[in-house]
This record gives sequence, structure tokens and C-alpha cells, in this order.
Amino acid sequence: MDILLGLQWGDEGKGKIVDVLSPDYDLIARFQGGPNAGHSLEFEDFKHVLHSIPSGIFRDNTINLIGNGVVLDPLIFMDEIDKIEEIKPDALKRLFISKKAHLILPTHKLLDAASEAAKGITKIGSTLKGIGPTYMDKTGRNGLRVGDILEDNFLEKYDFLKNKHLQMLKQYDFDFNYLEDEEDWFEGIELMKKFKLVDGEYYINDALNDNKKVLAEGAQGTLLDIEFGSYPFVTSSNTVSSGANIGLGVAPNRVGKIYGIFKSYCTRVGSGPFPTELFDQNGKYLQTKGHEFGATTGRERRCGWMDLPALKYAIMLNGVTDLIMTKADVLSGLETFKVAVAYDIKGQQTTNVPFEFNQNIKPVLKEFKGWKTDLSGIDLYDKLPQELKDYISFIEKETNVPVNIISVGADRKETIIRK
Ligand code: GDP
Ligand code: IMO
Ligand code: MG
Repeated sequence: MDILLGLQWGDEGKGKIVDVLSPDYDLIARFQGGPNAGHSLEFEDFKHVLHSIPSGIFRDNTINLIGNGVVLDPLIFMDEIDKIEEIKPDALKRLFISKKAHLILPTHKLLDAASEAAKGITKIGSTLKGIGPTYMDKTGRNGLRVGDILEDNFLEKYDFLKNKHLQMLKQYDFDFNYLEDEEDWFEGIELMKKFKLVDGEYYINDALNDNKKVLAEGAQGTLLDIEFGSYPFVTSSNTVSSGANIGLGVAPNRVGKIYGIFKSYCTRVGSGPFPTELFDQNGKYLQTKGHEFGATTGRERRCGWMDLPALKYAIMLNGVTDLIMTKADVLSGLETFKVAVAYDIKGQQTTNVPFEFNQNIKPVLKEFKGWKTDLSGIDLYDKLPQELKDYISFIEKETNVPVNIISVGADRKETIIRK
């Protein structure tokens, strides 16, 4: 099994690259996160954003599995299915769901919103999809799982958990109306029953035993990982490569390549520290040229220069074997651009990501010469401008990991794969 995951704060272009790589795989599996993710795919003038469904869904021969580590909202699932059905109805035959994936209830979303409202300016900037409360119920051993929807006592279990949530909501000063959502939610549950609900861990291990090629698709990014991200401004799951073992039930010794994907600069959506964040014209340039708006929430993404200490940290945590650089085209046109090569923390320099990942970190920046060449249409590494090749060589030298794929546009075709 190979793994592809984000090395920054999410939105690195995982959806695009999984779609590009999926013809080489028999099975694509999501292992964590849920509808907080927004994975964009573009091909043949068609754009699509996936939230809970793996990004291999538009490829004819690829099976797609939603793994046990994922949290699923039946409502959003139903909406996604409707949209895919319009474009590629047969795709849905190739979608499998682990019975052990946890369900996001309408009241989980209310708890998410109430908790964020209560935090005021210290809010996480959650996508408000109910992710945190659902994982809390999972680890608190109160959660509802996809397999439960087939049991006779599902309604009873649902009511029990919902009532618990309603009690919890009383501690917040928060107005809500969940009933409208609830009806549609149950419609989503009925739809879910039509899919192949499987013991995902057996399904995926059987596939591996049959020599099928499996790619695990990460959501969010390493700097949003619950253990190693910029806590508490993180998501509630393990976004790092070991999360794929837990989130699918695949042992570590079955893992092959680990693709780590990063943008040629950095973005972050939501609150939390961002050492290389730009508040000047360059930040605006990246935001505008990169169309940096959240694929799930539409929020403007914060933009900044590439952060090498954070990238090296992510490579270490994930065991990255192959780097993928996306959005190289967005840097085109800048006279110069910068990369943080170290952090200055109260006068002390370090290349490690510190425990206190906060606003005291000042980036030590190295300047690079930019290029004017428009990269769209370039399909060979050798044809890239020398300045970009120099930047890539610098990253390879610093990280000791080859940059094997370079993405120069949002379309499937705008991808350079180095042999
Ligand atoms: P994901 O969450 O990692 O799948 O990434 P998103 O889909 O949230 O955000 C990436 C955005 O950049 C999407 O709008 C993609 O269509 C777009 N994109 C991906 N790769 C490239 C690229 O190389 N160049 C440009 N200009 N856009 C890209
Ligand atoms: P993809 O898979 C970017 C961010 C939110 C917030 C924090 C916690 O598209 O890369 P949550 O809803 O998980 O409780 O929010 O994490 N976040 C993402 N940022 N891309 C994502 O997913 C994200 N999923 C969550 O903005 O700061
Ligand atoms: Mg995204």
C-alpha cells in the first residue's frame, strides 16, 4: 500500500494528484478526516470537489473505500452521491464503506458550532462539520458507526446519543434548530444502506493479498495532525502516514511509497500560528493567482512563503519517499520569492519545529530569483525555467527526498512526472 498525504496545513492539491495517480491503482482509500476535507479535481473542463468520497471515483477501474478512520455525515454523503450520479452513475458501484467508520450526527455539528462560538477570538476556525465532537464521541466510546445503521436498535442508539448532546448543548448560550437537518440525515442513512458496507480491514487486506495496488488518500495536512500539528489549532485525527495504518487496518510492514505533497508556498485556512504568513502585496499575489479560497467553506486562505523547517518536520514524521510540488505555476511572475530556512525564536535560531508553535516564531528567509515563464502547457521537466529547477534542487538537497512530480496547473493534464 502506498500513501499520499499533505505536508502543510491542507489543500496542497491531494485530490488532483490522487486523480492523476489513480489509473496506476486498483483501490483508493480515505483513512481519516471527513467532510472538513475539500478535494478538487479538474479534467476535460469539468471541476468537482469531493468531501468524503475518495478521489479515484471518476476513474473507470478504481475501487474506492471509505475507511474506518473516516467520520461520515450522511447528509453531505447524500449530496456528494447526487452530484456524482449526475456525471458518472456507474461510479457508485465501485464505492465501499467500512462499517467501522463513525457517523456525524446533526447534533455533533451543533456542538462544534456552540464550542467555537464559546471560544470567541480563540476559536480554532473549524469547518463546523462536526469533526471534533464526532471524534470525541469515538474516543469517549459513545459513537455511532456505519455498521450500526443495519441493527434493529439503531434508532434507540441514535436517540440516546442525541439526547446526551442536547443536554450538553444546554451549557452553551446557543440557539439552534436541528429538526430540519434530522429528517434529511435519516434520508442519507437510508441511501447509505444501498452501498456496500464492509469490514474494511478484511476488504483491504484481501485486496493486498491478491496483489492489488492500493493508495491511501490523506485529508488535511501534517501541520493539522492532532498529535504533531500546531495544537490546539489542529483537526481531530491523525493526518500523518501512521494514521493510514490505524484508519484502514493495514499493518505498517505493508506500506511502500509515501508521497508527501506540498505547495510551492504555504496556505492556511482557519486560526492558528503561521510563521511565514504574508500581509503584503506578495501575500495578495499568491492568494489571487492561486485562487486561494477554501474548497469546503469558501473562506479566503491565508498565504505565505514555503516553510522548510515545517516541511522537514513533516517529512520526518511521515517517512516521505517521494515529494510532490504543486502550484509551481503560481510563483511565475514574481521577481523574487522567499523560503523560511530556520526560525528565530526570541533571538535564538533553530531549524526544529518547537513545542510552542506560536506567534513568537520569526522566519529566517532565503531569497530566490523568480521567473516570468508561463508554466501552463509545459509537460517535461527539462522545459521548466532554470530558476524553478534551482528551487526544486534546493528542496531536494535540503530534504534528501526527490521531487518526483511537479504540478503546474489545476487540470489533470498539467502534471509533470519525472521518470
Ligand atoms: P486538497 O484539499 O489537497 O485536495 O486541495 P484543494 O482542492 O482544497 O485545493 C487545491 C486547489 O488548487 C484546487 O482548487 C485545485 O484545483 C488547485 N490546484 C491543484 N494543483 C494545482 C496547480 O498545480 N496549480 C494551480 N494553479 N492550481 C492547482
Ligand atoms: P483538505 O483535506 C485545510 C482546518 C480548519 C481549521 C482546523 C480544524 O481539503 O486539505 P475541523 O473542521 O477539522 O475541526 O477544523 O483544520 N481544516 C482544513 N484546512 N484543508 C482541509 O482539508 C481542512 N480540514 C480542516 O480550517 O483550521
Ligand atoms: Mg482542500
